[in-house]
Amino acid sequence: MNTLQVIDLVHTYNDNRSAVQVLKGVNAEFEPGKIYAIVGESGSGKTTLISLISALDRVQQGDIRYGDKSIKEIGETTFRLKYVNIVFQAFNLIKYMSARENVEVTLDFSGYGKDGKARAYELLEHVGIAREAANRLVQRLSGGEQQRVAIARAMAGNVPIVVADEPTGNLDEDTTEKVLQLFRELADAGKIVIIVTHSRKVAKEANATLLRMKNGLLLAAADDKH
Ligand SMILES: Nc1ncnc2c1ncn2[C@@H]1O[C@H](COP(=O)(O)OP(=O)(O)O)[C@@H](O)[C@H]1O
Ligand SMILES: [Mg+2]
Repeated sequence: MNTLQVIDLVHTYNDNRSAVQVLKGVNAEFEPGKIYAIVGESGSGKTTLISLISALDRVQQGDIRYGDKSIKEIGETTFRLKYVNIVFQAFNLIKYMSARENVEVTLDFSGYGKDGKARAYELLEHVGIAREAANRLVQRLSGGEQQRVAIARAMAGNVPIVVADEPTGNLDEDTTEKVLQLFRELADAGKIVIIVTHSRKVAKEANATLLRMKNGLLLAAADDKH
């Protein structure tokens, strides 16, 4: 069972002459089959952390490991493409393609094989995108629908880690519930699921292990009160 390990991660942003250390030695271990919710004040470093975990930004100090390999040994590009799927608002959806094509591209890329088209429709139906909407250009879908297409893509990708930044940020309650259900399915399929959210309700409903970013550190937050 391969876990994702974050080890003594330190990250500093340099703006002109001032340097701000956002991560001050973050340690964590993420297990397959579980959902983790990272909460914390705005500006506490949540996006920075998951950008590093998804290899969108480069590790400065410390390490990120999957199984027995460092992200540096695996290679950042390989890691980003083959190990992790990122669910940001409509991040990395291809706007001039239909929803179905977006999902199919990911299936192709992960070596799914022949019936990619049928499987893409199936995955989209799974996230509540019916055939008509599936055939529409992604840019003609609502924010909530695009969000679900992004999740269908995460399900199509044959990768062990799924990372989401405020995935339910501007979704209504019904859609939020549906999306959380999908994250649960991803975890049940054995993936490591990490969600950044400011909503305790979301963390609770996802039955997630709660972690809090505070003062540059990531802390277990199971017992804190707000
Ligand atoms: N590219 C960047 N350059 C300089 N400062 C940044 C950059 N990205 C984020 N920051 C700063 O780092 C801190 C943490 O940001 P972020 O990780 O986005 O926090 P969160 O997602 O918890 O709101 C904030 O003070 C933010 O202004
Ligand atoms: Mg953020």
